[in-house]
Amino acid sequence: MTRRPSPRRSPIAVTMPFRPPLEEYVAYLEKVWASGIMTHHGPLVQELESGIAKALKVRDVACLVNGTLAIQLALRALRLKGEVITTPFSYAATPAAIAYEGLKPVFADIDPETLNIDPARIEGKITERTCAIVPVHVFSCPCDTDRIQEIADRHGIKVVYDAAHAFAVDWKGRSVMSYGDVSAFSLHATKLINCGEGGGCVGRDPEVMARIRRLRFFGHDEDKRVVDEGTNAKMHELTAALGLVNLKYLGKVLENRRRKYGLYQELLKGTPSLRFQRFAPKSYNYSYMPVIFETHELMRRAERAMSRQEVFARRYFHPSLNLTKPYFQPGLPVSESIAERVLCLPLYDALPEADIERICSIIRKI
Ligand SMILES: Cc1ncc(COP(=O)(O)O)c(C=O)c1O
Repeated sequence: MTRRPSPRRSPIAVTMPFRPPLEEYVAYLEKVWASGIMTHHGPLVQELESGIAKALKVRDVACLVNGTLAIQLALRALRLKGEVITTPFSYAATPAAIAYEGLKPVFADIDPETLNIDPARIEGKITERTCAIVPVHVFSCPCDTDRIQEIADRHGIKVVYDAAHAFAVDWKGRSVMSYGDVSAFSLHATKLINCGEGGGCVGRDPEVMARIRRLRFFGHDEDKRVVDEGTNAKMHELTAALGLVNLKYLGKVLENRRRKYGLYQELLKGTPSLRFQRFAPKSYNYSYMPVIFETHELMRRAERAMSRQEVFARRYFHPSLNLTKPYFQPGLPVSESIAERVLCLPLYDALPEADIERICSIIRKI
């Protein structure tokens, strides 16, 4: 009997941007063509800012060109100088944004279960030069905001959350973005709600938010005088148009991701060599599918077995940032160990459930 070759499968990437029906985006582009306004805080950027504020139930949102500049402008608006305590288990954007503002990132180790900065490790890193803490809600799991705020208040320092992953997450009855002095979010193509590239800030002090708005537009005030050392971090209308269409799908995207995450959990549950990030189920947006293997060797075997079948999981975050050349501060054992054992599995809106079943069976076999 001759065996038929199995049909060729397409490679599975770790992520894929959500794309709404094209005609809905085109309808927004028609508005841009009609108005002739491409940028400078045009009507669609304003509409996106109020749409996000409504969706997150926060008062004030300033949209920006990306999430990295959102962290930078938040730090600059708070007029910080000196050292900033942050997590080594993040994307390079976090310490890069701190360093670009002339500040020194100082890493404190993480909690092995939530993967977020461990408040118990923060205090030991505080010196007379410390001006702020920049925690990250890793993979959208909220940080221990109460303990972090308590430490910040006791030392008179600021808190800027890197909320790049944490769009649409509620925490203790309100948006996770309403904690700290400012939260910086990302609308990058890989994020829950995307604009291609984009981001923004949510803040509680109107003065600070007004300063962020000046800084994004070369330091101009409302009368166009140059009153601040600003930069160009303006979101433009074509980007805002995509954000506005995608925002309409927020509920659907969230629910779909939650279901897919649940399927992974169900199929991998009981696999002895693997565990999940610990989080409160109602305070998570399921934008990533991180799994932590018992050993580096098992993680590599799983990664290789998947890539032989053109399934491309990602070692996110690896390496622990304290072991990278620009930010070298060795000696953070929890983050260093997790970074050697973590893999983010494919998870995105259009990922078929049959692919999740196939991925889980590859992992279970190793
Ligand atoms: C934790 C974290 N912080 C900041 C950023 C930067 O966001 P953006 O790509 O919008 O500049 C990212 C981006 O992926 C991120 O993962």
